[in-house]
Amino acid sequence: MTDETINWVNSILHGDAANVLAELPSSSVNCIVTSPPYYWQRDYSTPVQIGNEKTPEEYIGNLLTVFAECHRLLNEDGTFWLNLGDKYQEGDLLGLPWQVALALKSQGWILRSDIIWHKPNAMPSSVKNRPTTDHEYIFLFTKSSAYYYDADAIREPHVTFTPDSKMKGGRNHFGKVNGTPEAGKNAGNANLHNGRWDQAFHPMGRNRRTVWNIPLSKFREAHFAVFPEKLVELCVLAGCPEGGIVLDPFIGSGTTAVVAQRLGRKYVGIDSNPKYCEMAQERLRQLTLF
Ligand SMILES: C[S@@+](CC[C@H](N)C(=O)[O-])C[C@H]1O[C@@H](n2cnc3c(N)ncnc32)[C@H](O)[C@@H]1O
Repeated sequence: MTDETINWVNSILHGDAANVLAELPSSSVNCIVTSPPYYWQRDYSTPVQIGNEKTPEEYIGNLLTVFAECHRLLNEDGTFWLNLGDKYQEGDLLGLPWQVALALKSQGWILRSDIIWHKPNAMPSSVKNRPTTDHEYIFLFTKSSAYYYDADAIREPHVTFTPDSKMKGGRNHFGKVNGTPEAGKNAGNANLHNGRWDQAFHPMGRNRRTVWNIPLSKFREAHFAVFPEKLVELCVLAGCPEGGIVLDPFIGSGTTAVVAQRLGRKYVGIDSNPKYCEMAQERLRQLTLF
């Protein structure tokens, strides 16, 4: 198979991620959003599946092989959003997300952000000797320091300096209600320009923070945890220009592709389980019906 022989854009491809990626052309995708199988979490019923390795080192090694191909495929100004959960072994937290993140840094990736995905509806647990885990990580990696990032597309509401804010002192500091650093009593103070204006008064909201509060969602037919669409939306809106290509090498039920398509981006998804490939294709078909 060469890149001329497979029509890979807007496709769900079946096979082992590392092998399929090896067939795709270099510098050809704008953005990667993915959630690989977690270590010893689930059986995805294929001989090549990642996640059931004998040791965490072997698991990390297999992920790194896939991500080395991802590095080759990603444009120089592309973004790579990696969601990973952790694992306890005999009561000892393995710290896998950070082990993988640090290994990726030593492979040449630049780590731009560690985002906490807070899950307000996370499964309750019976543990009594430690806090109940209700978060996972999303790491934002890039290949270079000049990369595509649309901060305006994912701004969030201001918290402190709205007209309803109780923090009158804070608002007065900047001038008056609906004032700006330029117009208020601190007009002319260069210290209050740019960053502070953006922080407190930007009409589209404040710059997105690193804790994302997004409930887990269900997709009836999938027997594994699927991405909430909202989570993928934030990554795609900020990290991929309109018309660009989003890759998910562990596509599962197809969430990344569905969101990419809905937001006017192209997609390519890979999964080693043919049933999940069909499930993803069916979801995409449903999307085009509406
Ligand atoms: C956590 S699920 C992804 C769920 C997905 N984010 C969604 O929203 O549905 C991980 C997926 O990786 C697939 N997988 C496991 N090993 C693989 C491999 N070596 N190559 C490609 N896909 C693999 C599994 O079949 C599973 O569908």
